[in-house]
Amino acid sequence: MSSKLSVSMNKKPIYDILFEDSFDALANALRGLDMEGCSAVIVTDSTVGPHYAALVEESVKDVFSSCFTVSFPAGEKSKNLETVKMLTEQFVEHHLKRRDVVLALGGGVVGDVAGFCAAIYMRGIRVVQIPTTLLAQVDSSVGGKTGVDLDAYKNMIGAFKMPELVYINTSVLETLDARQFYSGMAEALKYGLIMDSSFYEWMLTKLYEIHERDKAVMAELIEQCCICKAKIVERDPLEQSDRALLNFGHTIGHAIEKYKDFQLLHGECVALGSVAAAYISWQKGKLAKDEYYEIRDMFVPFNLPISIEDIDAQEILRLTKSDKKADKGGVRFALLKRVGKAYLDSGVTDEEILAGIAEIEYREDGE
Ligand SMILES: NC(=O)c1ccc[n+]([C@@H]2O[C@H](COP(=O)([O-])OP(=O)(O)OC[C@H]3O[C@@H](n4cnc5c(N)ncnc54)[C@H](O)[C@@H]3O)[C@@H](O)[C@H]2O)c1
Ligand SMILES: [Zn+2]
Repeated sequence: MSSKLSVSMNKKPIYDILFEDSFDALANALRGLDMEGCSAVIVTDSTVGPHYAALVEESVKDVFSSCFTVSFPAGEKSKNLETVKMLTEQFVEHHLKRRDVVLALGGGVVGDVAGFCAAIYMRGIRVVQIPTTLLAQVDSSVGGKTGVDLDAYKNMIGAFKMPELVYINTSVLETLDARQFYSGMAEALKYGLIMDSSFYEWMLTKLYEIHERDKAVMAELIEQCCICKAKIVERDPLEQSDRALLNFGHTIGHAIEKYKDFQLLHGECVALGSVAAAYISWQKGKLAKDEYYEIRDMFVPFNLPISIEDIDAQEILRLTKSDKKADKGGVRFALLKRVGKAYLDSGVTDEEILAGIAEIEYREDGE
C-alpha cells in the first residue's frame, strides 16, 4: 500500500510525498536523499512524541550518525517564537550543521514550527515532514509554508521552506482523537469544494468508511488531497494568485479561531468560515441557493460545526479585516461559483461579511 507523488516547481521535481502505512520505508527514502552519515533531530510534541518518536528514531538510526529528539508542549499555544528559540538552542547544543536534518514529526503545529526552525537555523537546513494528524497529512505538510503565531496573529512570522520529503504514514491516524480527525476532514472537504466536485461527491459517498477510518479509503482520500494541493502549489508556489484559493473558509475561519482564543480547532473554524463564504457566494449571486444549503448541511455528518454561539459579529469583522491576507483594497475572499469551482473576490463589502457571520451565528430558534 505504498505510492508516491512528486511535487514540482517550474516543472522541476522538488520533493516527493510518500504514502505508506508504516515507518518501514523511511530509512531508505532518507538514504535516497543523501542523508547517510548526517545528524538528525526529531522535533515533536508532548502527545505525538510518546507514541511515535522512539519508533521513528529506531527506523532511522542506521541512516544518521546521530539522532536526538526534542519535544515541546502539544497545541497551538506552543506555535510561537519562544518555542523556536528553545528548539534552535537545542540544535546548537547538539552541534547541528548545515547538512543536517530536521525530522518534523507531528501535526501542523510541529510541521510549521520545525519547518520554520529549519528555514532559519544557519540560514537553512534540510527538513523532512512526517505529518501525524489528518490535517497535516492532507494539507499543512505539503507546500512549504512554515511559521509561528505572533501573539494572537496567526502565522504572522514565517518562511517558505520546501521539505526534502513528505513521509505520510497513514497508520498513525489510529491514535488521533475524533475531534482532531474531523478537523482534518474540513480541509479535505475544502479541496473538493474549491477544485474537484467528483472528489467531493466521492467523500460524501464514503461517509461510513471515513467514520470507520477505513485504511484503503483514508489512504485514497489523503492522496487525493495531496494531488489537489500539489496542483495548486505547483501553479503558484509563493501565493501570488491561485494559491489563495486554498484560503477558502479561512478568512472568516481564522478570525473565529482568534476570537475564540483557539478554543475551537482549526478545521472546525474552517468549516464555519466555509459556510460563511459559501453564503456570501450565494448572496453575491455566484452560487445557487440549493448548492449553498447542501454545502452547509454536508459538514454536519462529518461532525463539523455550521453555527457558533456567543460571537460578536463586529469584532469578527474587525479580525477578518486584520488578517494578513487582507491587502489595501480589502479582504480577498475565496468564494464559490459551484461545488468544485472557486474564484477570488476582492469586492466583498463589510455588509456582506457581516451577513456571512450572521448566517453562522447560532440562534435559539434553530434558524
Ligand atoms: N503550513 C501550512 O500550509 C498549514 C496549512 C494548514 C494548517 N496549518 C497549521 O497547522 C496547525 C494545525 O495543525 P493540526 O490540526 O495538525 O494541529 P496540532 O499539530 O496541534 O495537532 C493536534 C493535536 O493532535 C495531536 N496529535 C498529532 N498527531 C497525533 C496522532 N497521530 N495521534 C494522537 N495525537 C496526535 C497533537 O499532539 C495535538 O495535540 C495550525 O497551526 C495551522 O495554522 C498550516
Ligand atoms: Zn487550514
